[in-house]
Amino acid sequence: MIGIWGMGGSGKTTTVTAIYNQFQCKFENHGFIENIREVCNGGVKGIKQLQKQLLADVLKSNEKIYGTASGITTLEKRFMGKRALIVLDDVSTFDQVEALCGNSKCFGAGSVLIVTSRDVNILKKLEVDYIYSIKEMNEIKSLELFSWHAFRQPNPKGEFSELSSSIVAYCKGLPLALEIIGCFLHDRTVQEWESTLSTLEKIPDGQVHKKLRISYDGLKNDTEKDIFLDICCFFIGEDRAYVS
Ligand SMILES: Nc1ncnc2c1ncn2[C@@H]1O[C@H](COP(=O)(O)OP(=O)(O)OP(=O)(O)O)[C@@H](O)[C@H]1O
Ligand SMILES: [Mg+2]
Repeated sequence: MIGIWGMGGSGKTTTVTAIYNQFQCKFENHGFIENIREVCNGGVKGIKQLQKQLLADVLKSNEKIYGTASGITTLEKRFMGKRALIVLDDVSTFDQVEALCGNSKCFGAGSVLIVTSRDVNILKKLEVDYIYSIKEMNEIKSLELFSWHAFRQPNPKGEFSELSSSIVAYCKGLPLALEIIGCFLHDRTVQEWESTLSTLEKIPDGQVHKKLRISYDGLKNDTEKDIFLDICCFFIGEDRAYVS
């Protein structure tokens, strides 16, 4: 069992997705259970739903699950001896892992279970074999990611070069912050950039991370764009009507 740990928006899901996509073909049974924290906010029903999903995705079985406890037994029986690759993404309590893959001994030899979490204590309690901590992005990569979102190219446009470096420094290597602020500043004037920078300067050191500790999965449709604008307004402190 491997644990991946990092703060919200640091790249856990991105990293584990890349690993899963690369290695899933080597396992006959494989499954990726995402958004566990969010789904389980719905209580026991959420856990039961994830147990069902695990059975369906990994074992192609649509067996009924009547309760969490009986679900654990069913999963253990069905997984017995099977070599599997399973990802449990964004786990927020120890019980969630217990309910989904509690008895890792039931899996066949060569199985790999990867658990990601914002809370390193859960991974420690699970006694995973190895904990990988997501590192913050270095300055060069940060500027590149920010530039893709702010300018749609890998480096800043001439007049924005210095401003870009100053803003990137405030993101402290957090991909989510680089993306959100980069998107927000796309196609804006130098004055708007300067005003954003001065807002960032007022946020106490390290707090930018806290303000953006949310999941951000790309802007695929209008609803998401709407939510995104709201987040930007919250973050930048602007009136929503002005930004729209
Ligand atoms: N190495 C990377 N290169 C480029 N973009 C990245 C990288 N890592 C993460 N990102 C981007 O940053 C954003 C946040 O990443 P991700 O969703 O993986 O974070 P997370 O740690 O899973 O957050 P949460 O705890 O909220 O689930 C995503 O939009 C993703 O595309
Ligand atoms: Mg995630």
